Amino acid sequence: MGATRGFGVDIGGSGIKGCVVDLTAGKLDGERVRIATPTPSTPEAVAEVVGDIVTRFDWDGPVGVTLPAVIKKGTAKTAANIDKSWLEADAGALFTKRLGRDAGQVVVLNDADAAGMAEIRYGWPGDQDGVVVLLTFGTGIGSALFLDGKLVPNTEFGHLEIDGHDAETRAAASVKDEEGLSWEEWAARVTRYINGLENLIWPDLIIVGGGVSKKADKWLPMLDVRTKVVPAELRNDAGIVGAAVAATLAAES
Ligand code: BGC
Repeated sequence: MGATRGFGVDIGGSGIKGCVVDLTAGKLDGERVRIATPTPSTPEAVAEVVGDIVTRFDWDGPVGVTLPAVIKKGTAKTAANIDKSWLEADAGALFTKRLGRDAGQVVVLNDADAAGMAEIRYGWPGDQDGVVVLLTFGTGIGSALFLDGKLVPNTEFGHLEIDGHDAETRAAASVKDEEGLSWEEWAARVTRYINGLENLIWPDLIIVGGGVSKKADKWLPMLDVRTKVVPAELRNDAGIVGAAVAATLAAES
C-alpha cells in the first residue's frame, strides 16, 4: 500500500462511525465521529450521514464503507439486522454519488470482512497462516474467513443452523443481554456454535471480536473447543480501519 492515510466508515445498527486512518500503524488518526444511525435506516438516510461524516474531516480521497450485509459488487444482498430496504440497493453507487467521488474511489464491504482485514493486517503476529476465521459477537454474529491472509468474502457463518436455530439468535452478544444469560450460560452457547463451525471448516485459529472481546477473560477460558481462540486486538475500531484498507487497496490497484 502506497498511501499512508485512508478513510473508513463503519455502519452499525445503532451508530455510524468514521475517521481518517493511519495505514502505517493500523490506527485511527485522530478522534472518530459517531452519529446515531437514523430510524428508519434507509439507504438514503444512511448515505446522508456518511456524507456528513466524510465532510467533517475534509477528506477527498478514497472511502471504505461497511454494512452488516452480504455485498456483491457494491450491492447489498442480505439485510439481517438493518432496514429491509437495503436489499438489492446499489450501496456502492449511492455512496459514490453522495460523496461526489469518481468510480472506484468508494468501496463497500461486509462489516465483519472489514474488521477481519484490519485484524489480519495489524493484529496478532502470525495469524495470517492457514485457515483463520474472525467472529464478531454483537447484535448478530459476523464472520470473516481467511486462507493464508487472503479474504474469502461474505461467509455469513453467523447464520449457521445450530440445533434448529439460526446461530446468531442463540449466541450473539445481544442474546446474552436480552435473555439475561450469565457468562457461563452464554459461553456454553458460544461453545455449541463454535463446535458446529469447527466441524465444518476446521480452522487453525479463531479470532473473536465485537464489544464482548473486551471482556474476553470472563468467557474465553470457559469455551470448550478444539481450535485456539484469541480476542481481537483492534476492538471497536477494526471496521473503520479495515474499510480504509479495502478502499485504499482498491484505489491503488
Ligand atoms: C449479518 C452479517 C453481519 C453480521 C454482523 C449478521 O446478521 O448477516 O452480514 O456481518 O450480522 O453485523
